Amino acid sequence: MKKLGIYVHIPFCRQKCSYCDFYSVNWNDESENKYVAAVLNEIKGYKDRLNGQYVADSVFFGGGTPTIIKPESLYKIMEVLRDLIEVNKNSEISMEANPNTLTFEKLREYREIGINRLSIGVQSLNDDILKKIGRVHDSRQAIESIDRAKSAGFSNINTDVMFNIPGQEVSDIEDTISRLIERNIEHISFYSLKLEKGTPMYALEKNNKIVMPDEEYEREMYYAGRSLMERNNFLQYEISNFSKNGFECRHNLKYWSQDEYIGLGPSAHSFMDGVRYSNPADLKMYCVSGFNRIVHERMNYEDLMFEYIMLRLRLSEGVDIHEFNSRFSTDFIKIYQEQISHLGKNNLIELSDGHIKLTEKGMDISNYVFEKFMQ
Ligand SMILES: C[S@@+](CC[C@H](N)C(=O)[O-])C[C@H]1O[C@@H](n2cnc3c(N)ncnc32)[C@H](O)[C@@H]1O
Ligand code: SF4
Repeated sequence: MKKLGIYVHIPFCRQKCSYCDFYSVNWNDESENKYVAAVLNEIKGYKDRLNGQYVADSVFFGGGTPTIIKPESLYKIMEVLRDLIEVNKNSEISMEANPNTLTFEKLREYREIGINRLSIGVQSLNDDILKKIGRVHDSRQAIESIDRAKSAGFSNINTDVMFNIPGQEVSDIEDTISRLIERNIEHISFYSLKLEKGTPMYALEKNNKIVMPDEEYEREMYYAGRSLMERNNFLQYEISNFSKNGFECRHNLKYWSQDEYIGLGPSAHSFMDGVRYSNPADLKMYCVSGFNRIVHERMNYEDLMFEYIMLRLRLSEGVDIHEFNSRFSTDFIKIYQEQISHLGKNNLIELSDGHIKLTEKGMDISNYVFEKFMQ
């Protein structure tokens, strides 16, 4: 049986954060019901496609804010998913959560549904920063939600932390990360704020109402956060992800290893049989016309190879040369001789134990390294 990851996009938020361009709309009961009916249909529509050949080993409820919808709705989705496909007993079943929607009752229900990993959007524990970026919770609620999740039985918790926010300082990052580590969480996603076109923050910067930290300070914040996490046994396994040993996110590892997954819900992306496709980022269209999926071109051999290298280089483990050669029936060292020599001389990649990895310097300018492999 082939393994499959399943992503479910829950497209609702209470309020849009000023930096975020993930697809979501305001929640109401009627939209939730329509959305759930459409997702259940989409799941059922996969029956012939999967044809009993797959077993699911990870499920990820992302958003938006999955914790906004009723636990009964999540229960229904899981039930219909389990009718479609065997969900492995040891599967990782993750859910993204916003601190202000996490009540103890809900958390207990999530455990009963089978959710065993929570990813809480903390972003910062500085209340001024949280206000500035339009979060609907404060730092106290963030800490309480982690403690509540622990006492409801969650033993695999990630928190999202953002740096590179205007006005943020290295000491804020250190304070946020050390207070999170004290709560005994298992994983931290550490994202550099990127201004996305169409968001309020993007407009503010364009109109000179806010000033982004300069590149040097952005790196300083990153190094400070990384070093603090590493000193506390949070191992970096991907450019933006750190975890205690054994708590790497298995679902996200699928994305970085070019494994197969299906994405359900508006705006969700899928990768199956060498084809990438996605659903339209439009809830109304998704509910009315079902899933007129946007099929991105079938990826050719070269595209797949380049994408694989780019994804794997994001991981600390890097590209396993032996695995690459058998996956693509080729010789990595031979075809990328020039790139390996140039990037190696400039201390951007290193070869060790049969793996090509980014060096620390390479991580800082990873896009440059990826481009080289495209040539
Ligand atoms: C899709 S959100 C889901 C989390 C949940 N909705 C919440 O915000 O509490 C996943 C994470 O992406 C990160 N993120 C969103 N927009 C970003 C941006 N423009 N730059 C960097 N990180 C971003 C945030 O850390 C956020 O928690
Ligand atoms: S960061 Fe999370 S809560 Fe904020 S708008 Fe994006 S998805 Fe919604």
